[in-house]
Amino acid sequence: MSKIQKPLAEEKYAKELAALCEADRESRKPAGWKLSPAAVRDFILGRKTPIKLDGESVMITQKFYGDNALVERAVITLAGSRGLMLVGEPGTAKTMLSELLSAAICGCSSNTVQGSAGTTEDNIKYSWNYALLLSKGPVKEALIPAPVYKGMSEGIITRFEELTRCPQEVQDTLISLMSDRVMNIPEFNEGNNLLFAAEGFNIIGTANTRDKGVNDMSSALKRRFNFETVEPVKSAKLEAEIIRSQCEGLMEAAGISAKIDINAAEILAEVFGELRSGVSAEKASIPKMSCVMSTAEAVSVYYQSALDAEYFGGGRISMQKLTENLLGAVMKENKDDLPKLREYYSGAVKLKAERRGGIWSEFYDSRSSLK
Ligand SMILES: Nc1ncnc2c1ncn2[C@@H]1O[C@H](COP(=O)(O)OP(=O)(O)O)[C@@H](O)[C@H]1O
Ligand SMILES: [Mg+2]
Repeated sequence: MSKIQKPLAEEKYAKELAALCEADRESRKPAGWKLSPAAVRDFILGRKTPIKLDGESVMITQKFYGDNALVERAVITLAGSRGLMLVGEPGTAKTMLSELLSAAICGCSSNTVQGSAGTTEDNIKYSWNYALLLSKGPVKEALIPAPVYKGMSEGIITRFEELTRCPQEVQDTLISLMSDRVMNIPEFNEGNNLLFAAEGFNIIGTANTRDKGVNDMSSALKRRFNFETVEPVKSAKLEAEIIRSQCEGLMEAAGISAKIDINAAEILAEVFGELRSGVSAEKASIPKMSCVMSTAEAVSVYYQSALDAEYFGGGRISMQKLTENLLGAVMKENKDDLPKLREYYSGAVKLKAERRGGIWSEFYDSRSSLK
């Protein structure tokens, strides 16, 4: 059987989840949860000491970096009666966090509505198999459950991606479902036309702040959620660590055994951090870019350069490739950012090359690629 490209979080980390469950026996768990809140937090933020499982030591790795308190608040929100809404710039790991939370809490991260302008109520609640509907009428087997139906009937988390991209009237179908925790199915006979949410059901939504204005949320729906803003990571060291750990995983999955070049990862992290914030370590003035310089994009620029090194470059990441891929990431969003990127090289990067030399000089020399 061929290997799948991106396994679900609960499959990818099956061993870690089993170990946490084993170590978690005594703790109290919210109704319908597989793990205690502390174990869910440990799954996402990692543990210092390994857990013994069937004679094997299992390390619980850190998966989300940055704001530990945010992760704890998110877990506590889900243990309560409100939904969790993760908002923020693209590429700040909102989706990743919601997958990890779902995998740890109910063992299923795939019960998802992908919000878009075309999302309908049927995509959220249920639809019908029309052949069965015509032959047998509105019976249970003719009903096709959508993710919120599934979440309510099985007592699991429903993830709602990009909620604010949906038309507002569609978003608002969530209001009564979330406050009453019951879905009315008028097609069924009286008596069994109510689906009561099983323990463990909740909703994790995500929304991009850059999408704002597409479709705002009604205040009634807002009250059904606790909002958490996921900020881009602030420290270059941490961002380099994210690039390292994520690319290691990507390269392993692609069957590449190359080592991560931590110097290249650190350059990229520093460059992304400075272009995002508009503040350089050398106090050089930096033009504010209009495109999103997200960590997810930094990971992808590094990975792209690492692939090039593997297949064409004799295993070494060249600064030339790093610059070319950075250029690609910037240009796909806004061509007006090109002169700003050039200005960054001839200002801040030049200073870094003069003061720190080494790989920064090589990086500065690659500016000829910024055409
Ligand atoms: N704080 C972080 N910790 C770990 N990985 C991160 C972080 N921020 C960004 N990433 C990386 O960015 C990738 C994309 O994030 P994603 O969840 O798709 O972002 P979003 O949904 O916010 O647009 C993640 O898979 C991860 O590689
Ligand atoms: Mg996302």
